[in-house]
Parts: sequence; structure tokens; C-alpha cells
Amino acid sequence: MTQAPEGVTVVLGAQWGDEGKGKLVDILAADADICARCAGGNNAGHTIVVPNDKGEKKTYAFNLLPSGLINEKCVGFIGSGVVVHIPSFFNELDTLERKGLPVANRLFVSDRAHLVLGFHQIVDGLKEIELGGSSIGTTKRGIGPAYSSKASRSGLRVHHLYDPSFPAKFRKLVEGRFKRYGHFEFDTEGEIEMLQAFAERLRPHIVDGPTFMHQALASGKRVLVEGANALMLDIDYGTYPYVTSSATSIGGVVTGLGIPPFAIKKVIGVIKAYTTRVGGGPFPTEQFGTIGETLQEVGAEYGTVTGRRRRCGWLDLVVMKYSTLINGYTSLNLTKLDVLDGFEEIKVATGHKIDGVEITGFPADLDRLAQVEVEYVTLPGWKTDISNITSFADLPPNCQSYVKFIEDYLGVKVQFIGVGPSRSSSITVF
Ligand code: GDP
Ligand code: IMO
Ligand code: MG
Repeated sequence: MTQAPEGVTVVLGAQWGDEGKGKLVDILAADADICARCAGGNNAGHTIVVPNDKGEKKTYAFNLLPSGLINEKCVGFIGSGVVVHIPSFFNELDTLERKGLPVANRLFVSDRAHLVLGFHQIVDGLKEIELGGSSIGTTKRGIGPAYSSKASRSGLRVHHLYDPSFPAKFRKLVEGRFKRYGHFEFDTEGEIEMLQAFAERLRPHIVDGPTFMHQALASGKRVLVEGANALMLDIDYGTYPYVTSSATSIGGVVTGLGIPPFAIKKVIGVIKAYTTRVGGGPFPTEQFGTIGETLQEVGAEYGTVTGRRRRCGWLDLVVMKYSTLINGYTSLNLTKLDVLDGFEEIKVATGHKIDGVEITGFPADLDRLAQVEVEYVTLPGWKTDISNITSFADLPPNCQSYVKFIEDYLGVKVQFIGVGPSRSSSITVF
């Protein structure tokens, strides 16, 4: 099979998110013992479509829980770098169980993971209002404020739920938010009670995070890491400040799980055959007319978490080169190639220029980025329905050329190709 026999395989979003990470994770989980989340929280939205023998399809949506859980032999782990909203954790768990997927006995959370608290979610909204026209367009799940509490060393972690000082610490945090944002409606005592009730239910799921990972690796367990969000949303390397608040790059895997870097054997970059982005921020290859609308309609580009329309544009290989340099992909999963079936011609960005001069890398400064002129190469379309194709050799020649063009530019091989939403609509190239 395609998985490493042991050690860690990582699946990371290579663009601005929603590349189809969940689908690949679900496929690879068949050969994994553990599927782990290392960063982010329930701002992620991973949709998986599983067909049964009768051809009926079941759709699952994962936000905080790892998508590998659909595979009933796979254990789920939420690592120390994740921020956990406890009511959402149980809501997702219960929804999966109602769908006939037992997960409660195989889902673990690091004691070190930080909590997303109710007021973090309120503050997320208030911060966005304060930003006005330059708002980030967050998912309003409280992710940024929870990571802010963590970085300012006043955050509460999973283990704090069992600490007698939890209510006092919680009240102090709320007071701090009132001082900063003015009084907002929030039932502090009600929230404390609710969390303390959940704490009992959470107890059997809690593990010492680094010990859990160390024991898994020492006993030869195959670990699959599900990246959330994506490289261009990384707090350090994304289009700051239009980013999420965690390390969504390969670095976040090491810090978020507490594992040594050499435990990682494979890093699979998930890249959509075009580009999408949800929320604000720069997007050099964005298309506003018919092309953007076609990509949006054919690709059903609506956010899983917020239902927002995703902005669409051509594939930007400059972005992908930058992403590849940082994450060091050992192979790629090119997804949603079927969405390009109807195009006569397909454009791909191969260069960024400022004042007529080719730039290297990707600008840190958004004002400089705004000056970028995108250079495109136009490739011929294939005008063929590829959604039922199961091998690379059977793809139309122009479609094969599109894949090879990407491989040649990036110097990384495409290992998997997505030709439809369903688990079965995936070509394994090698
Ligand atoms: P993630 O956040 O990276 O896991 O991606 P999302 O689940 O948010 O968005 C990807 C969407 O595209 C989902 O609705 C998937 O069902 C769908 N999808 C995934 N791969 C393919 C593919 O190869 N072709 C098509 N047409 N849809 C796909
Ligand atoms: P998956 O895992 C797409 C975006 C938000 C917003 C910015 C900050 O499904 O690929 P946040 O709520 O994290 O503070 O929002 O980041 N964003 C995503 N966009 N896919 C995601 O996750 C995202 N997670 C965050 O839209 O622009
Ligand atoms: Mg998504």
C-alpha cells in the first residue's frame, strides 16, 4: 500500500485551505493506527464522501475531530497544539455516533491542549467588528483569541479543568476581556458549570500528549497526521495578518504533537488543481468574472464551516513553490482535477513580477504583494469527463500534460489525483 510501514505520514494543505485534505486522510487511514490533529481547532472543515456497496453515498463533516476516524480501526488523537472547544468536541462525537460510527472509545486528547472558551468566540466577533473594512473574515470559532490567551500565558488547558483554581482563573480571564472590549453579554458562572459537567465526560479521553505519541512511535504504530487550514494561512508564512493563528506548516506537526522531526517519513502536500480562498486577504490569481464563477459552481466551492462562498482563481505555482520550500513535500495529491474538465484553456501562474522584475519567493509585505503582476502560461484543456477514470494512463493526454507541468515546475511527483468528491474517485499514480 501507499503508507509508510511505520513512523509518521503527514498530510498538509498547500494553498489557502479546503484542498481536500480530509478525503486523502480518510483514504490513507485504512493503513494507519492513529490519526492525529496537531494544530488549529474547529475552524477546519473537512468533507468526506463514502460510497457503500449499493452505490449510496454517506457524507461526513469533520471540524475538530480527525477525519481518519471513519476507519473503525483508527484511533483519533487531538494533540497539544490544537485548541479545543469542549461543547463542539462532544457535539461532533455525538453526531458521528448517531450516524452509526462508534468513536468514543478510540478518541484521545492531549492534557496540554488549550481550551477555546465561550468568551473567546464572542471576542473573535468583536475583534472582527473593530477591524471594520480590513476584517480577516475569520470563522468566528474563537481560534485567534484562544491562541492569544495561550501566547500571553493566561490560557487554560485541558488539565486545568480539574484544577480547583479553574473557576477563579476563568473569571479572571473574562474580566480581562471586559476591560479590553467593554461589557458584553456572557454567562460566566453558567459557562463554568457547563465546563465542569463536561469535564467528567472528558476524563476518559485525556492522555499525557507527548507520552501518548512517544509510546505510539516506540511500538511501531503508523501515525497519520491530518493538517488543518493550510500553508498560506500559517501564522508565520501565510499572508499575515490574513492568516489563522497557528503553525499550519510542517513545523506545527513537530511542536503540536511533541515528536522529533525525523519520525516524519512522508509529507504529502494537498493541492487543488486551481486556487480558492475563504475570507479576506490577498489572492494574486483570483478570477472575478465567468472563470471564477465557473470554478465556484462546478467545484461547489462553499465553505464547510461557515457556508461562505469561496473565492476562486487559477492555480498559482509561485505560491506552490513557496509552500513546497517550507513544507518539503515528498509527494503531492492533486485534487479536483475534474472541475477543470469543461475548460477550453487553462491558465497557470508561473511567475510574479513587480515593476517588470521577476521576484523570488513570496512577498512578506502585503503592499508589495498588491503590486505583483502575475505571469501566466496557457495550457490546452481536455474537454472530457474524467470523473470515472481510475488510472493515470487513461487520463486524456492534455490532462496528463497538466499534471506533468505541475510536477516539472515543482520538482515533486503527484502521487494521488482527485477526480470527484467520493472516496473512490481517486487515482493512485504510484
Ligand atoms: P479540506 O478542508 O482540505 O479537507 O477540504 P474541504 O472538505 O473543506 O473541501 C474540499 C471539497 O471538495 C469537499 O466538499 C470534498 O468533498 C470535495 N472534493 C475533494 N476532492 C475532490 C475531487 O477530487 N473532486 C471534486 N469534484 N471534489 C472533491
Ligand atoms: P480547512 O482545514 C479555509 C481562514 C478563515 C479566515 C482565516 C482566519 O478546512 O482547510 P480563523 O477562524 O482560523 O481565525 O480564520 O483563516 N481559514 C480557513 N480557510 N479552510 C480552512 O480550514 C480554514 N481555517 C481558517 O476563512 O480567512
Ligand atoms: Mg475545509
